[in-house]
This record gives sequence, structure tokens and C-alpha cells, in this order.
Amino acid sequence: MSRVFFGMNNRPIGFFDSGIGGLSIWKAVNAMLPNESTIYLADSKNAPYGEKPIEKIKHFSFKNVDLLLKHEAKLIVVACNTATTNAIEDLRSHYNIPFIGIEPATKPAAISTVTGKIGILATQGTFASELFLNTSKAFRGSVEIIETAGTGLVQIVESGSLEDARPLLEKYLNPMVEAGVDNIVLGCTHYPFLTPIIKSIVPNNIAIIDSGDAVARRTRHIIESYDLASITPPEHNFYTNGKLEVLKAFAAQLKGSSSPITSTALDF
Ligand code: DGL
Repeated sequence: MSRVFFGMNNRPIGFFDSGIGGLSIWKAVNAMLPNESTIYLADSKNAPYGEKPIEKIKHFSFKNVDLLLKHEAKLIVVACNTATTNAIEDLRSHYNIPFIGIEPATKPAAISTVTGKIGILATQGTFASELFLNTSKAFRGSVEIIETAGTGLVQIVESGSLEDARPLLEKYLNPMVEAGVDNIVLGCTHYPFLTPIIKSIVPNNIAIIDSGDAVARRTRHIIESYDLASITPPEHNFYTNGKLEVLKAFAAQLKGSSSPITSTALDF
């Protein structure tokens, strides 16, 4: 298998999301694979994906992948639950490179719950997807799952004014707390940026779970098994078709990045 990808080692890992949310995944991947170059596409112009029909989500996903491949990505992290759950199967059958996706961490939450109740906060598009329904089906008998669509949260994170999300988070999370959940899954890559606010709303014995580390471990596994590790100094190039100052502000928070990040506005 690795022969197919021979000579691609020093090329970047590609990432895309409907905006800056996937930077929460980028951070986990960069921490685990600091020698890898990366290219990140923030498709902010088309956010939120989660309130769009599946055909649109697929269309945006293909457009982003085509651009990442033009920039010679050697593998692609779909840093968006909505794009993963609605489009990753089509992407995998269309392109001959590895894709790593992200789905709400239903399984770890279902395994660790003591109260037998978990909450999942994700987009409408993720909840409606076949992939999510199939994954969560396995746990529905044994665990009560409270699903809440985080309508409006992606737009607030994209605006950069995170504190504005507090009233919506209270509205979405308080019923989960009252129902007795002990695990809350953040099933959208924009939501980890809201973790400090979430923690100030829910009691501290409730675990807040996201999938960043799981995606990073999977990416490392793919790099190792396809023999794709880079041996040149890493470069990080981020592109947005939204507001450059928002991307720059979020990129500046990625402390500990393995090398400087270049943020650029691009129409795509
Ligand atoms: N970050 C995307 C996700 O993980 C947000 C989707 C959206 O744009 O609605 O689902």
C-alpha cells in the first residue's frame, strides 16, 4: 500500500472545516505530529454546513478536497463532524488518498457513563446523517442519549465573540444537566472553543468530551502505516474565504505550534 504514496512524505496534511472550528482538531494533530507540515482551509463563507442539505455539504466537501489536492496534501483530515458524517464515504470512494474523519464521541461517553445518560451537542446535519444514526444505534438500548442541535453556535464562534454563546449554551445544556447526564459530547469541532463557557455552566462532575485526541491518534496511525512521515522542517499555511482577522486571532491562540503559521485570505 505505501508504494502508492511513495515520494509524498514531505507534502502537507490537509484539513478542512466550514470555518475555524477544525483548528481545535488541527491543534491536537499538530501536538502529536509536530514535524508534519499542514494546510488548513476555513470555508467560513459557506458556514454553517449543519443547516444545509446533504447535497450542498457534499459539494463543499469535494470543492475543499480538490483545493487541498492542488496544494499537494498527502492525506486529508475532514475536521468537521457534519462533513464527515455526510460526505466521507463519497470522498473515500472518489479519491485515492487516505481520509481521516471526525464523528461525535458517542462510544467513549456511552462506555464511561455511570448515570446511564449522556448528552450530545452537534449540528442538525450530523444528527440527520446515516453515519451518526448507525453509530449511535449500537448504544441506544443501554444508554439514554439526549441529542440537542447547537443551532446558532457555529455562527457565534465564527464571529469571534465567544461570550455571546452563553445564553444559547445555557438553553441547550441546562436540560441535559437536569436530566442527569454525566457526559456531554461536543459533536462539532467549533464547540471545543466554547469549553471554558460550557464548564462555567455545567457542574464540574460532568465530563466534557471531544474527539481531537482520537483524530490525532488515527492520523499518526495512518502516517505510520503508509510510511508517510515527513523529514523536512514543517510549514503551516491556513487559508480562509471569510474574515482574515478572525482566522488570525484563532491561529494566534494555537500556542505551542511546531513552527509559525501563515494565514491568508483566499476566494475558494
Ligand atoms: N465544525 C463543523 C462540525 O464539526 C460545524 C458544522 C457547521 O458548519 O454547521 O460539524
